Amino acid sequence: MKILILGSGGREYSIGRAIANEEQEHELFYMPGNGATSSLGTNINITDYNALATWAQEKEIDLTIVGPEGPLVDGVVDIFKANGLTIFGPSQAAAQLEGSKVYMKNFLAKYNIPTARYIETASIEEAFKFTDTLTAPIVVKADGLCGGKGVIIAQNHDEAKVAISEMLSGKSFGDAGLKVIVEEFLDGYELSMFAVCDGDDYILLQAAQDHKRLLDNDEGPNTGGMGAYAPTPLVDELLYQKVKDRVICPTLEGMKKEGAPFEGVLFIGIMVVNGEPITLEFNVRFGDPECEILMPLMTSSVSDMFYKASTNKLSEIKVEFSSQYAVGVVMASENYPYKSSTPAEIILDDVHHEIIEKYTHISYAGVSEEEGVLYADGGRVLVCVGLGDTIKEARDRAYLRCGQVHFAGKKFRTDIAYQAL
Ligand SMILES: Nc1ncnc2c1ncn2[C@@H]1O[C@H](COP(=O)(O)OP(=O)(O)O)[C@@H](O)[C@H]1O
Ligand SMILES: [Mg+2]
Repeated sequence: MKILILGSGGREYSIGRAIANEEQEHELFYMPGNGATSSLGTNINITDYNALATWAQEKEIDLTIVGPEGPLVDGVVDIFKANGLTIFGPSQAAAQLEGSKVYMKNFLAKYNIPTARYIETASIEEAFKFTDTLTAPIVVKADGLCGGKGVIIAQNHDEAKVAISEMLSGKSFGDAGLKVIVEEFLDGYELSMFAVCDGDDYILLQAAQDHKRLLDNDEGPNTGGMGAYAPTPLVDELLYQKVKDRVICPTLEGMKKEGAPFEGVLFIGIMVVNGEPITLEFNVRFGDPECEILMPLMTSSVSDMFYKASTNKLSEIKVEFSSQYAVGVVMASENYPYKSSTPAEIILDDVHHEIIEKYTHISYAGVSEEEGVLYADGGRVLVCVGLGDTIKEARDRAYLRCGQVHFAGKKFRTDIAYQAL
């Protein structure tokens, strides 16, 4: 197939890498891609979605896969479909599950999917009144997309009210904060689950845990994610079954009733409280770096799965997973997540060790390329992935690979997957 991948991160690199490793040959294109995706395929730069759809028609692209939420919320899937193209991802209407937390919470409530008790409002009085009924900590969320920064866990009522005021006045997040969710704090452990959906059917991938904080022991500021591992032993068959019955099935049914059947990746942020999966949020695409560890765990064809999901034929295939574990360690640049860093040359040791060669690899994210030299020029630069028969083995291998990557200012956590060890 000729396959176009939208996005430029490690997530998109890992999808392309999995496709490039398939037995069947494919031709890959990236829009815009990064300095390393150019070794998996061809990077193109057409930012207007209508122009991109025309290009895809002329190029006879068989399948387009959308990585990040931005293009989905902007309706790229609708534009491609209107042009008769096959594309994997939710429509603009379905992407509201991520694009608007108010839409998502109201959807959960309407279809009786367990979620934290909440109020959704644009009124400061109403928000304050509800806040007074809760015990601290209190969770305040901006409605719209805030790049992972729109949620405040307030330690007391005053802090919650400041957060509410700043959001509703437009001060903290502009239009994205003009409606807020105020909700009860859930105390439990967090999981990410990913279901590849075709509107009617779905395939549930292995549950993952990510590490949002910058520093070891979950300290420091929040980031896009500093590492992840899967499958997590914190999930047993019973919990998978509960997520299917109580979250995924009612969501697919509900979205059909809403006239927006869900096609694409449904990322379910879950808090497990007393053994019960409570939905924190949905995203409508893979998490990053979760994608980087889930892709190498798939032993059946990834491109076929995405193709079947885009053509409502998921029920025809059987998706197979490796019995191994995967651990991904993010290497970030010096000033991440505060500000950008000076581009630094990346030097990779030659891999001689058979174990490293066979059981580790790198998914590239914030890198650029010039005359054959790779430079670290984004916040999260790359992800070292290790595979193994145990989480510990996978983790040790990922860290062996980290030891072979050098660039000025590189930083990474040393405790990825600690929850499972
Ligand atoms: N009700 C809640 N109780 C406890 N923690 C929460 C709650 N809602 C969100 N969180 C925490 O805040 C993080 C971000 O919230 P989330 O709803 O996932 O928004 P986003 O990913 O868009 O920032 C979650 O991963 C979780 O750790
Ligand atoms: Mg989240």
